[in-house]
Amino acid sequence: MDLPIGTVWLVLAIILITAIVTKIANARVTFDPVCTRPPPPVVNNIALIKLLPTLCTKGPEVTMTYLYNKFGSVFTVSILWKRITFLVGPEVSGPFFQGSESEVSQGNFNEFTVPMFGQENGFAVDSSTRMDEIRFYIDALKPSQLRSHVDPMLREVEDYFGKWGEVGVVDLKDEFNHILMLIASRCLLGKEVREKIFGEFYTLFTEIEAGMNFVSFVLPYIPIPVNRRRDRARVKLTEIVSEILRSRKICNRVEEDVLQKLMDSRYKDGRRTTEAAVAGMIIALIFAGKHTSAVISTWTGACLLTHEKFLDAVVNEQKEIMRTYEDMIDYNVLLEMETLHSCIKEAGRVNPISIGLVRQAQKNIIVRTKEGVEYDIPKRDTLVNLVMLTSKLPHIYKDPEVYDPDRFRSGRDEDKVGGKFSYGIFGGGRHACAGEAYAFMQIKIIWSHLLRNFELKLTSPFPKADWSKYALEPKGKVMVNYKRRHLASN
Ligand code: HEM
Repeated sequence: MDLPIGTVWLVLAIILITAIVTKIANARVTFDPVCTRPPPPVVNNIALIKLLPTLCTKGPEVTMTYLYNKFGSVFTVSILWKRITFLVGPEVSGPFFQGSESEVSQGNFNEFTVPMFGQENGFAVDSSTRMDEIRFYIDALKPSQLRSHVDPMLREVEDYFGKWGEVGVVDLKDEFNHILMLIASRCLLGKEVREKIFGEFYTLFTEIEAGMNFVSFVLPYIPIPVNRRRDRARVKLTEIVSEILRSRKICNRVEEDVLQKLMDSRYKDGRRTTEAAVAGMIIALIFAGKHTSAVISTWTGACLLTHEKFLDAVVNEQKEIMRTYEDMIDYNVLLEMETLHSCIKEAGRVNPISIGLVRQAQKNIIVRTKEGVEYDIPKRDTLVNLVMLTSKLPHIYKDPEVYDPDRFRSGRDEDKVGGKFSYGIFGGGRHACAGEAYAFMQIKIIWSHLLRNFELKLTSPFPKADWSKYALEPKGKVMVNYKRRHLASN
């Protein structure tokens, strides 16, 4: 439909006037006149326009680093009526990570997850119910619960890589996505899904995951085909989970998986979790843990296979462990794989999954920089904690661009010396990743198996990060040649 040019100008004028009025109104209500501390420095619009070519040619990390170097660890970007305040470094991150929901909330930035996870959990329910759910996750994934997942994970890994030939070429990214989905279906959902309907579950989950695209992010309910498929898949997956829950109840069957733990959880007011809420929570957990672990596993591979010193170190560590325990692996043996742990942790530091974490200031927030300057961040600002930049700060990490897992070993402990929130790959504070220990456990099981049973060689160039993805991942295929071997412990 063509609109007359006069109408177009009128609409544009209305939008502009609304924007200006809202901006003035916001400015009135947000700044606290009695506060003596200044608001953070604002990057003005001319500076922003000048930065556009850098953003387009060099990407967000370089652009944000430039702004950090110019304005310091707290700065605000004002786009029309929206103020976004960026935070870099542990010194200014305390209120962001530790503030209560009434000070710093998760806002409605995650609205797009509602049609993915359903109406009875996550961002569809009030914050107190959501805090209960977080407690369920933490309980279900705490170390005492994780011990029972080691054997099922080992079995999945042995079966999966047992199907590789004597020699071959694989795309690590693809392989890790596959094996981690199998592990998720076994340890999170349980044997009914893993053993009977894995194929159907995989297809449904992939359709829900596809709902995570730019259009659905902005307009989660728009009836485009990908959103319709997402909605149908969620309904079907909810039915499947409900059926499993009902059959367990009828047969009085109790399993060791996370699904069971969520089914047995109680809200603070004593209510039981509903079938739809459990279904939504389990989808959310797989969503939070599968892809992220696959990405970090792939970066670990790319880093190890291009750093001989550390590849030798992790292989020698496996030999050492095999001398003591032979082929036996349990939870405690995994804890002894400290070199492998550092190599995974460092792969995540050098190649973080996200540029930043987002919150909404519900009150004025005061932060103090490492230079001792205090700023008063106005209520209603969107806050973005640039964890990607924090993990590359030279006053915390020596030669931050270098892959050096030894920085986490005792004696150096750069992240601990740097202070709380120096390593933000798993977030921190009130919403710290509930699955960090589980993630390390599955990645260590996969990599210890690969190191013991295969010689690997990276044949594609070291991957770049793919900035078109919501969770950053290696761009393109990550091709590896493998040759079967049996690592001797002597
Ligand atoms: C290497 C893999 C992983 C990375 C890099 C990662 C990263 C993160 C980050 C950065 C957050 C905080 C988000 C925020 O503050 O807004 C988070 C939260 C969370 N993660 Fe992970 N995660 C990983 C694996 C997992 C796994 C395996 C699970 C579960 C099986 C999991 C479950 C969760 C949950 C439930 C939350 C929400 C906690 C809350 O809101 O309080 N994650 N994760």
